[in-house]
Amino acid sequence: MITVQQLTKTFPSPHGAVHAVDDISLEVEQGEVFGILGPSGAGKSTLLRCLNLLERPTSGRVLLDGEDLTALGPKALRDRRRDMGMVFQQFNLLHARSVADNVGFPLEIAGVPRRERDARVAELLDLVGLTERAKAHPGQLSGGQRQRVGIARALAARPKVLLCDEATSALDTETTTQILDLLAEVNRRLGVTIALITHELEVIRRICHSAALLDAGRITESGKVVDLVIDPRSSLGEAILPTDGPDDYPLTAILAFDADRVSGALISQITRDLDLDVSLIGGGLERLAGHEVGRLRVGISHPGDPASAPDKARIEDYLRGRDIPALVHALGDAPLTVAATKEDAA
Ligand SMILES: Nc1ncnc2c1ncn2[C@@H]1O[C@H](COP(=O)(O)OP(=O)(O)O)[C@@H](O)[C@H]1O
Ligand SMILES: [Mg+2]
Repeated sequence: MITVQQLTKTFPSPHGAVHAVDDISLEVEQGEVFGILGPSGAGKSTLLRCLNLLERPTSGRVLLDGEDLTALGPKALRDRRRDMGMVFQQFNLLHARSVADNVGFPLEIAGVPRRERDARVAELLDLVGLTERAKAHPGQLSGGQRQRVGIARALAARPKVLLCDEATSALDTETTTQILDLLAEVNRRLGVTIALITHELEVIRRICHSAALLDAGRITESGKVVDLVIDPRSSLGEAILPTDGPDDYPLTAILAFDADRVSGALISQITRDLDLDVSLIGGGLERLAGHEVGRLRVGISHPGDPASAPDKARIEDYLRGRDIPALVHALGDAPLTVAATKEDAA
């Protein structure tokens, strides 16, 4: 649905050029929720604004459903932008207008007749659960309700894509959950593709099918959420389903797997097959993007001789034979994994 090719956005500054977006290529598939995670200043907003050309890229191309937006003239671009609704962190509502008139605003601009507009607004208010508040003004609403208005407005012109810039970052935890569930419903029920940027891992965990990690204008990792989590070496996978814990066993392993394919008795099987003690240190199972996935950190030692190191290659062979992606780490090796973003944890 969205193809980004070698996109670059450079801002001039007194201290030299700022490469806010630095040679990014990515692909957002039709019908998916694609999340871009990164700390403040990573270039998230700039990247998102380049997707609908609110920001002109310095170089590179953006294709929407196969059409090169960077090649369009102003009129054609305005038309295509209607295919991309935008949701903002601070809602960006018109405070002098009612909820209904905020939602209908894009249709008014597009010259949609009153009657048709009213019908569409009623439909949208029903979708976001605000029918009762149609005549209220934004100032009379809670943050979560304001964002519902923002989402309804973004959907008014029946876009193919929603672009969300930190849509839940101004909201408390409970409201965040409700808004994320609404976005997931919009994606599922209306088939709207969603590209979102966030600094919150919870957003990735709860609604994203694919994710990318953005750092200093570059994408350092990307993929399907499930594939990232079942890759023991992925730091984004580790951030999504952490296996924190000490690695002071003679051997520590991160086991990552699709739980539908692996027996629930995995640990006791390994213990039995290898005649070793396997202790659960951290991690767990989680349902992500419709899959039950597991990421476990285990300590491995000889029964009765906890200090001596078991044969690492033998364990690696065994896990490979069982098709369980694993990263086996001996005491004294370089630290196991790195956290994805320093900032998120907060
Ligand atoms: N209009 C602008 N002019 C100059 N520098 C900018 C502009 N917009 C963003 N930047 C710079 O680009 C970098 C990325 O910013 P931004 O895309 O807002 O990051 P994020 O949304 O991840 O916090 C920052 O260093 C920021 O200061
Ligand atoms: Mg931003």
